[in-house]
Amino acid sequence: MSGKPAHIIVVGNEKGGTGKSTVAMHLIVSLLSMGGSVGSIDLDARQATLTRYVENRRRCRDAGRSMAMPEHVSVPPTEDPTVDRDRFLEAFEHLSASHDVVVIDTPGSNHPLSRLGHSFAHTLVTPLNDSFVDLDVLGKVDPAAMKIERPSHYSEMVWETKKQRAMRGERSGMDWYVLRNRLSTLDARNKREMERLLGELAKRIGFKVLGGLNERVIYRELFLEGLTLLDFGDGSPGAMSLSHVAARQELRRLVEGLNLIRLLEPASPPE
Ligand SMILES: Nc1ncnc2c1ncn2[C@@H]1O[C@H](COP(=O)(O)OP(=O)(O)OP(=O)(O)O)[C@@H](O)[C@H]1O
Ligand SMILES: [Mg+2]
Repeated sequence: MSGKPAHIIVVGNEKGGTGKSTVAMHLIVSLLSMGGSVGSIDLDARQATLTRYVENRRRCRDAGRSMAMPEHVSVPPTEDPTVDRDRFLEAFEHLSASHDVVVIDTPGSNHPLSRLGHSFAHTLVTPLNDSFVDLDVLGKVDPAAMKIERPSHYSEMVWETKKQRAMRGERSGMDWYVLRNRLSTLDARNKREMERLLGELAKRIGFKVLGGLNERVIYRELFLEGLTLLDFGDGSPGAMSLSHVAARQELRRLVEGLNLIRLLEPASPPE
C-alpha cells in the first residue's frame, strides 16, 4: 500500500445502462495492474453486475488463470435505511483502511445508499451514453436554441452530496469526470452537438469531460469470464484483435485522464 489514506472513486449516474459497472471493473483492474491494492463495493447489489463480474473473475482465476483480484463487498439493500447505512459504513471503513483505492459502483437510480456512497467520492466518474436522452439527467436542453437551460436532477444530487460531505467536516474536494461511453463512429453531427453541449454544461457545473470509449462488442463478451481489456496482450494468454488494441488505447487514455497513477505513489515522508 502507498501509506496514504485510501482514495475513493465512485462510478455513478442516475441513468441506467450507461456503462457504470463495466467502467468500474475496468478501473479496478487498471489499478490492480499498476500494482495497487483495491477494495470494491457494489451498492447496486439487487442487480449485482459488479459482484457477478468479480465472481466470474474469481472462477476464472480458480480455474488456473493468473489474475489480480480486488477485495469485494456487496451491500444489498434491506427495508431498513439505518441497517443499509451501517452495513455500508462497516464495509467502507474496513476497505478504506486496508487498500490504496476503493471503487464504488452505484445503481442507476436515486437510492439513499447511492447518495451516501457519492458523498465519500474523491473522484466521481459518470459514464454517459452519447445521446440527448442521457444528457437530460445532467442538464435540461432547450431544444429550439440547442442550449443548456439548467442543471438537472443528477447534477443537483451531486451538488447535494458535496454539501453533505462538507457538513461532515471533510476538507478534501471531489473531482467530477464525465466519460462519454459507447461512442458511435457513424453519427458525427450528433457527436459534435453532444461535445458542444457537454462543454457548456461542464463549465457551468464544474466537471471535466473525458475522451470516452467507443461502442465495442468486446465489452459485452468479457463479462462472463470476469475479464477486462487489461487481461489481454503483453504476454498474457488470449488473442488481441485490432479492435482490442484500439479499445485498450482508449482505456489507457481514460486512466491517464483520471491520473490514477498518482493514487499509488508512496506518501512523502514527514518533514
Ligand atoms: N463501450 C461499450 N461498448 C459496448 N457495450 C458496452 C460498452 N459499455 C458498456 N456496454 C454494455 O452496455 C450494457 C450496460 O453496461 P453496464 O451494466 O456496465 O451499465 P450500468 O450503467 O452499470 O447499468 P445499470 O444502471 O443497469 O447498473 C452491458 O451489456 C455492457 O456490456
Ligand atoms: Mg451497473
